[in-house]
Amino acid sequence: MVFERNIIVTGGAGFIGSHVVRRLVSRYPHYRIINLDLLTYAGNLENLADIESSDNYVFEKVDICDAKEVGRVFDQYDADSIIHLAAESHVDRSILDPLAFINTNVVGTANLLQCARMAWGENLEGKRFYHVSTDEVYGSLGDEGFFTEETSYDPKSPYSASKASSDHLVRAFGHTYGLPVVISNCSNNYGPHQFPEKLIPLFISNIVEKKPLPVYGKGENVRDWLYVEDHAEAIDLIFHEGKMGETYNIGGENEWSNIALIKVLCTQMDQKLGRSAGESNALITYVKDRAGHDFRYAIDCAKIKDALGWSPSMTFEEGLAKTIDWYLSNPEWIERVRTGAYQAYYEQQYTHR
Ligand code: NAD
Ligand code: DAU
Repeated sequence: MVFERNIIVTGGAGFIGSHVVRRLVSRYPHYRIINLDLLTYAGNLENLADIESSDNYVFEKVDICDAKEVGRVFDQYDADSIIHLAAESHVDRSILDPLAFINTNVVGTANLLQCARMAWGENLEGKRFYHVSTDEVYGSLGDEGFFTEETSYDPKSPYSASKASSDHLVRAFGHTYGLPVVISNCSNNYGPHQFPEKLIPLFISNIVEKKPLPVYGKGENVRDWLYVEDHAEAIDLIFHEGKMGETYNIGGENEWSNIALIKVLCTQMDQKLGRSAGESNALITYVKDRAGHDFRYAIDCAKIKDALGWSPSMTFEEGLAKTIDWYLSNPEWIERVRTGAYQAYYEQQYTHR
C-alpha cells in the first residue's frame, strides 16, 4: 500500500505520544505512523494495544541519539514528517540525573534534526519537523501574567534547560538550513496512561493504597492543567495547519494551586472509593520543597485559538473524573509499569524528605 504521508512519531509509547499515535492512526488510515521509541522506563507499548495491529502503524525500538538507526528508519519508510515527543520528561529526575536529560533532550533532538536534513536533502516540499515542547522553557511567573510566544526563555531546571536547548536547535536548523520546523509549548497534561511519578497519577495511586501524599513545600505552586486528548488534538491541528517557522503555545486556561487541586482529587477519590469524607485529605503530608521549584506557569493561548481555531474542550471536573476512573479500572497497568527501576527511583526521591 502506498501511503499519502509517512510520519515518524518519536516517544509514541509514552504518555502524550501514545494519545497522539492513537489519534493519527485512527483518523488518518491513509497515513503510515511510525512509532520510534526506545522504551525507557516511561515507554509502554501496552498504551497502544488497541491500535497495534492496524495496517498503517509500525513500531521501531530505536534510540533518538543513534544516528545510524534513525537514518535507517527515515530511509526505510521514506519518512516525510516527524512529530518529536521523545524526551526525559520528569523534573525531579532531572534534578537527580541532569546529564541523562542533556543526552536525550539535547543530543537526541540534534541528532533527529541532522538525520532529517540528511534524509530530505534539498527536497523540502511537503516535509515537516514538528517539535513538541513545554511551557517550562519560559521560566516561572509570579501571581500575575501569562507566557506568550514572545516571552523570553528563562529555564530554571535541568529538564526545562534541556528542552529550551532543543527548541533553540530546532529554530537554528530552520533558520540556517531552511528545514521546515514548527514548535509548540504546552502546559501540564493529565489523563490516562500517565506514568505514576507525575503529581496526579502518583497521588491517585497513593490514595488507593492509603500512602502519604507528598506535597512539596507549602503546596502553593500553580500549574495550568490540560486534558491529554486536547493536547493531541492541538498537535494534530498544528501538524496539518500550523505555519512552518512558527511557535504555538497550548494551555488549558485552568490554573490550580497544587494544594487546591489535591483537595479536589481527595474529595473525588473518597466518593469513588466509598470512603468517608476527609479520609484522603488526612494523607496529605508536607515534605521538603523541590529544588528550584518554579512557582507558577500560565499560558496565553490566544494565538492557536485565533490562528487555528483550537481551544480546550474538556472541563477539569470531567477530565479529572475520567482520569480517576481510568486508573481505578486499570490497577494492573500501574502494577506493571512499576518496575524495579521505578521502585528504586521512588525510594531515592521520597525517603529522605
Ligand atoms: P513520557 O516520559 O511519558 O514519555 C517519553 C517517551 O519517550 C517514552 O515512551 C520513552 O520511552 C521515550 N524516550 C525517552 N528517551 C528516548 C530515546 N533516547 N529514544 C527514543 N525514545 C525515548 O513523556 P510525556 O509526558 O508523554 O511527554 C512527551 C513530550 O511532551 C516531551 O517532549 C515533553 O517534554 C513534552 N511535554 C510534556 C508535558 C506533560 O505535562 N507531560 C507538557 C508539555 C510538554
Ligand atoms: O508544564 C509542563 C510540564 O509539566 C512538562 O513539561 C513536564 O514534562 C511535566 O512533568 C510537568 O512538570 P511539573 O513539574 O509541573 O509536573 P509534576 O507532575 O512533576 O508536578 C506538578 C506540581 O506538583 C509541581 O508544582 C510539583 C508538585 N509535586 C509533584 C510531585 C511529583 C508535589 O507537590 N509532589 C509530588 O510528589
